[in-house]
Order: sequence, then C-alpha cells, then structure tokens
Amino acid sequence: MQKIKELYRGKAKTVFTTENPNLLILEFRNDTSALDGERIEQFDRKGMINNKFNHFIMTKLADAGIPTQLEKLLSDTECLVKRLDMVPVECVIRNRAAGSLVRRIGVEEGIELSPPLFDMFLKNDALHDPMVNESYCETFGWVSKEHLATMKSLTYQVNNVLSKLFLDAGLILVDFKLEFGIFDGKVYLGDEFSPDGCRLWDVNTLEKMDKDRFRQSLGGVIEAYEEVAKRLGVSL
Ligand code: C5P
Repeated sequence: MQKIKELYRGKAKTVFTTENPNLLILEFRNDTSALDGERIEQFDRKGMINNKFNHFIMTKLADAGIPTQLEKLLSDTECLVKRLDMVPVECVIRNRAAGSLVRRIGVEEGIELSPPLFDMFLKNDALHDPMVNESYCETFGWVSKEHLATMKSLTYQVNNVLSKLFLDAGLILVDFKLEFGIFDGKVYLGDEFSPDGCRLWDVNTLEKMDKDRFRQSLGGVIEAYEEVAKRLGVSL
C-alpha cells in the first residue's frame, strides 16, 4: 500500500491517503510535543517505538473484542488504518490522580481513584482542549448520544484490559486518553495508544515512564519508552 497524499500533519503523526478511499497510512514521527504543540523536540527512534508499541496494544485490544482502526503494520514507522470520521472529543480515564486533575481539584498526586474518573476534552489546541461533558456533545452535535455511550463503555473496557496488561509488566496505568471515530455507522478506537498518551508508573518505585518525563524535563524519555516496551514484550 502506497502513500498518495498528505491529508493531515498532527503533532507526532502524519496521515496519508492511499489508493483505497477507506484506508489511510499513519506515519509516526520522532516529534514530541507539550503545551498544546508550543514545545516540540525530536527523539531518535521515537516514531518507531510508538508505532510498534501502538500496534502491540491495539492488537491486544482487538483480541479482547474492542473494535480498533488498525489494519496492519507496514514498516518501522507506518501502519495502515481504517479511515474513520473522527469524533473531536478525547476520552480520559484516571485510576490515580495526576496531571490536570491535580491542578484542577487540588488533590494529592498518586491517590487512587475508585471508581476511576472519566473525563472528556474537546480537541482544540488553540483553546487548550477545554473540558466538556455529555451535554456539550449533544448540544453541539459532536457525536450522537448512542455513539457517545459506546465510546464511554469502550474506554472502561480498555482500562480493564490495559490496567491488567501493564500491571503484569510491573507498571501502574495511572491514566490515558483515547480518541474514537465512526466507520460504516460503527464506533472504532482510533488514533494511537503509546506512552505519549498515557501515564505509566513503575509499581515499586512509582518512577514516571511516560511523556511526563518530557513534560517535566526529567530526561531519559526514550530510555523509559524502551523499558516499557521491553517489559511488555514488544519487539522493537
Ligand atoms: O493532562 P491530563 O492530566 O488531563 O491528561 C490525562 C491523560 O491524557 C494523560 O495520560 C495524558 O498523557 C493524556 N492526554 C493526551 N493528549 C491530550 C491530553 C491528555 O494524550 N491532549
């Protein structure tokens, strides 16, 4: 499958059309962004690591019955996916307090959240991804009530599958973000799942092993991503 035309250049991935109108190619770049794209740095090997990591996780999710857009791995940095009509809302689940929740509510980082929290954010860098809720989705017509209910249920299912998968690898899945889209009237998990879009802490030391190493300038970003991949058994 060949790339035909660049459709969209995101902060870490570029999306290309193919000869099949229903399929796209995602290319994972080495770019890493923070502050809604205001800070960007390149890390050697990152595109490859995230592409293979995402393929590994999406395959596990598909095995667990979750519909994903992933069709196949094409190269070190590219994969073939279904062309979804993306819902402009990010779904977040939090098992422990961190990041924007700590800033917003003032709770202590690391406290366990039981039951896990479900948040939604509008995808809009210029507005810094404002928090929204079900009512906004309905009023502004971003997604139907029925599809939103499916997205929420799938996000919880992903949490169940991945919390266990990561814990077996000695990692706490603190929180994560998912994006969904519609294909043929059905909801599919889109975008990517990688250490760029989740928080992972070592179960013993609580060391941060995700993009917070970049956001908080802790160093060792790629080393942490590689360690997570190694623990899960992702072949790089
Ligand atoms: O920033 P916040 O604490 O709300 O992020 C929650 C989770 O969602 C984190 O794992 C973060 O990496 C992810 N996220 C993301 N993309 C965004 C916002 C958050 O991947 N635009």
